[in-house]
Amino acid sequence: MSNDGFNPNTGDIYHPSPETVAAAHIKDYEAVYQKAVDDPLAFWAERAETLSWYQKWDKVLDDSDAPFYKWFVGGKTNIVLNALDRHQTTGRRNKLAIIWEGEDGEKRTLSYWRLSQEVCKFANVLRSMGVQKGDTVTIYMGRTPEVVIAMLACAKIGAVHSVIYGGFSEQAIADRIDDAKSRVLVCSDGAWLRGKIVPLKENVDKALERSPMVEHVIVVRRTGHEINMEQGRDYWYHDLMSLPVASNKARTEVMDAEDPLFILYTSGTTGKPKGILHTHGGYQVYTSTTLEWVFDIKDEDRYWCAADPGWITGHSYIVYAPLILGATSIIYEGAPTYPYPNRWWKIVEEYGVTILYTAPTAIRGLMRFGDAWPNRHDLSTLRLLGSVGEPINPEAWKWYHRVIGKERCPIMDTWWQTETGGFMITPLPSVALKPGSATRPFPGIVVDVVDEEGNTCAPNEDGKLVIKTPWPGMLRTVYGDPERYKAQYWSAYKEQGWYLAGDSARRDEDGYIWVIGRIDDVIKVSGYRLGTAEIESALVSYKDVAEAAVIGVPDELRGNVIHAYCILVSGATPDDALIKALKEHVRHEVGPIAVPTSIEFVDKLPKTRSGKIMRRVLKAQAQGLPVGDLSTLED
Ligand code: WT7
Repeated sequence: MSNDGFNPNTGDIYHPSPETVAAAHIKDYEAVYQKAVDDPLAFWAERAETLSWYQKWDKVLDDSDAPFYKWFVGGKTNIVLNALDRHQTTGRRNKLAIIWEGEDGEKRTLSYWRLSQEVCKFANVLRSMGVQKGDTVTIYMGRTPEVVIAMLACAKIGAVHSVIYGGFSEQAIADRIDDAKSRVLVCSDGAWLRGKIVPLKENVDKALERSPMVEHVIVVRRTGHEINMEQGRDYWYHDLMSLPVASNKARTEVMDAEDPLFILYTSGTTGKPKGILHTHGGYQVYTSTTLEWVFDIKDEDRYWCAADPGWITGHSYIVYAPLILGATSIIYEGAPTYPYPNRWWKIVEEYGVTILYTAPTAIRGLMRFGDAWPNRHDLSTLRLLGSVGEPINPEAWKWYHRVIGKERCPIMDTWWQTETGGFMITPLPSVALKPGSATRPFPGIVVDVVDEEGNTCAPNEDGKLVIKTPWPGMLRTVYGDPERYKAQYWSAYKEQGWYLAGDSARRDEDGYIWVIGRIDDVIKVSGYRLGTAEIESALVSYKDVAEAAVIGVPDELRGNVIHAYCILVSGATPDDALIKALKEHVRHEVGPIAVPTSIEFVDKLPKTRSGKIMRRVLKAQAQGLPVGDLSTLED
């Protein structure tokens, strides 16, 4: 929600029922947390032992070149060995891995056996196109099984995938392709959203005009509408998958634990997108452990993470961790309200969903339609609920708990980041909950709330959230930019060697963490992470705009919305037509999620003497709050 003065600590505590505790993997959080603190390396080694390795590691952690930490050094593995291969010789091969439903009502299921066959076929297709270990492949698709197949096929052959969220458009796609240096791109013709087609291939065509690096485009047919297919560059997925070369047997590449698995771009403080790099070994250990303990995954579960595979939530908790654990996942393509606001509740009833994981913005959005929609459906299979992406306001938490969970399902409010790979601050089912707090750190994770000097803040005092020791799921670097990795995450508390999360937080008397929001130039809109710089550079790339600044303004539904200030070039007319044109321009350049809700034309922007825009001043002004210290203001 807002970054200012938000303290949802209402004093409410929700204790887990004895049945929930009895069923939980971890019944005594304190004991397990303590065990991990006492000997973190033994703790993580024990977790890694639960997975398959071609060759065991020599060393759990190498911290000799910190902050470039290495985990399970010398270990040989491949995340696909754990996500698919090892299930093929057990009864699990007959289990459903994915239950998919399109927004248009189309349905498909894939067993572990079938999924593995599709992955092998596509791995062979990629290999036949010359994709080799270490090459990057860009993926830009809607929520269909093929996005999962494409990601796993890359991992299987040791290629590094870079998935771009389907809500991004032209410039954003081009920037990410260029940074990742991808020669191959996998996309779909389109995706269904709110009854309309999202023109994914068209966006790709336009992006490729700006980014000539891509040689081959593989197109999955989903919507079937007319698209442009460029001879010699574009191929249909189904054509390639029926070639003899696409055999259903493929070798899984043996990878070093520290070999890259994927790059995922996220917004930071500068305009250049930041490619967060994760690796095979540590990431598989961290994501599977966190999912198993937090969502308490069991064989009989039907688990639904309603995020998009294009974000880290989808990477870790739709694709990799559930498959490693042999879970059955639901994937739904479209909008929660299409054709009616009961679509999700219908899915829960129809598939007997037991675990639902979503974002506060979606909960608030569905809450607006009232209780009658969920009440029409049998939601009695649900046993655990989850929330992620931004702080959840207690009102939404309580609605989710009462109307969806029928006061029976604990809510796992998971705080984490693209950079962390998996949940960091989160309840386990056996932990008492406070609405609005992500509660306590996961076992093996040491967090603190500190002031500028690094002193631990007093209870309920605002400070910066830091992570004090390394963990296996941590990012390894910013792709192609190790200096940025150091500067961004490890320079604020360099002496101490702590990771700076970029959030402000408070810790209460019980040690519960309350995350307040971002302290950098990142805006969370509907839980999506956007950088001010990316939106600003889209605005100034429009001919009439000389300078621009954007800020996040608190919004009841979306957490924040974007407000933009523009200084125009002389001669430009500041009218409604221009506002409309600018919104359209941002939609094309960055994507629909980045479009400012309001645009204001101004003559000046508050700047420091060194020329940095003081967004803090703009923010305070926009909300009618005191502007604070202006001593560094230029004018
Ligand atoms: C930022 C990271 C998809 C995984 C998370 C999004 C905010 C995330 C919570 C939460 C309060 C949260 C933080 C964080 N955030 N989860 N449960 N409570 N804030 O990953 O896009 O990298 O964004 O999301 O501000 O720094 P991301």
